[in-house]
Amino acid sequence: QETYLIDGELREWKGEFTDIYSTISSTEKYAHTLLGSVPSLGESDALEALHSATEAYNKGKGLWPTMKVKDRISAMLKFVKQMEKQRDEVVKLMMWEIGKNLDDSRKEFDRTVEYIYDTINAYKELDNESSKFVRRDGVYALIRRGPLGVVLCLGPYNYPLNETFALIIPALIMGNTVIFKPAKHGVLLFTPLLEAFQNSFPRGVINILYGRGRTVAPPIMQSGKVDVLALIGNSKTAIALQDQHPKKNRLRLVFGLEAKNPGVILPDANLDLAVDECVKGALSFNGQRCTALKILYVHAKIKDEFLKRFAEKVDALKFGNPWEEKVALTPLPEVEKPAFLQELIDDALAKGATIQNKKGGERTDNFIFPAVLYPVSKDMRVYNEEQFGPLVPVKPFSNINEIIDEISDSKYGQQISLFGEDPHELSPLIDMLVNMLCRVNLNSLCQRGPDVFPFTGRKDSAVGTLSVHDALRSFSIRTFVSFQNN
Ligand code: G3H
Repeated sequence: QETYLIDGELREWKGEFTDIYSTISSTEKYAHTLLGSVPSLGESDALEALHSATEAYNKGKGLWPTMKVKDRISAMLKFVKQMEKQRDEVVKLMMWEIGKNLDDSRKEFDRTVEYIYDTINAYKELDNESSKFVRRDGVYALIRRGPLGVVLCLGPYNYPLNETFALIIPALIMGNTVIFKPAKHGVLLFTPLLEAFQNSFPRGVINILYGRGRTVAPPIMQSGKVDVLALIGNSKTAIALQDQHPKKNRLRLVFGLEAKNPGVILPDANLDLAVDECVKGALSFNGQRCTALKILYVHAKIKDEFLKRFAEKVDALKFGNPWEEKVALTPLPEVEKPAFLQELIDDALAKGATIQNKKGGERTDNFIFPAVLYPVSKDMRVYNEEQFGPLVPVKPFSNINEIIDEISDSKYGQQISLFGEDPHELSPLIDMLVNMLCRVNLNSLCQRGPDVFPFTGRKDSAVGTLSVHDALRSFSIRTFVSFQNN
């Protein structure tokens, strides 16, 4: 693909390209098929995008921030209707680029479309609620929610469409202008949407940059003209980018970052249910979800039975290309990931864990079969590092207070899955856990959705809150016009 979107223009690119490789196999090898290429934009293109977004915001060139609510909604509706026509193309590219299976790729597309419609409705509600006069001591105020300014948005590879749009769509509808750079993997799938962006939004309101994050993002941040940094990814990148801003403390941040969500299986848990939910929770999309279960704590009384059933179920998962029937495991887009996971496995084995499932750790090119590691301990890398891949560390426990202490010591704080049946035991535990994390999932896997629910984290897991409703607040500020009745 040769075009990119800056200042309302779909530009032909004459410079260097970045080649994009497919994750999947056409031969025996994975991740070696050239799928396409994107313009490798540099600093001057980044600054042009910034200029365009800044002008569109400050000078009302595109009238976006000051546009009537109903007109902004019309633009968003126009966009989503055009986007819906690109479903097959976007889904195909998502499968090829990041290896997400057909069913999940379709779900991601449909969920995103629904997210846009829900956001439009939530925006209407918010506007109705806020467009009322407030009076106090003879002073009247019309308090509304207004945009913040220019948003730099960087998306992740694992939910390239849905999580990215969970940032861009609320940012846009609130009247901000946006510069967006997709992740390295999952970038081609935006090309069928470029025209829809161009046709629906005024010039400069949305700019889409291709290229390396470390080339295009720093000049934008260093300019000091960005008002919001919105990013789903890792905290190292987030902090490094924030630090580039000359006034970093006045920057609004919306970050979705790492997590190490635990699954806790109490002695009275329904084991069939716990096994099913933990397999899905730990290994959907090969464990490449920030919400994945990344460590399981199993009560000593039931650990043998749980491990046996869990290992069997993991070994029964089917591996293949993403469009094949009932495929659960697919190749990993990051070619370097299997070597990293292998290091975690080797470290755990050297410190006393064993692989519990027969196929655990089998490797071909950029695929690695999920390994269930038991017993893990605090000195192991897999205990401390987010694997973001198909490894399932399991740790036994005898007293629930051990887990409470570990959650309290963890640098992450997103959510937990709790499996058990006794309400007297569960109730005080839930009360405590919900104040340490942000979501307790009772007898079910951890997840972000439904997208109307708040999605956030404590500690190093997030800054700000996403969800259809919360994101509108995250990308806006309360403003008002007042007058006195003299
Ligand atoms: O990577 C993190 C995603 O937000 C996970 O979303 O829980 O809907 O799979 P999900």
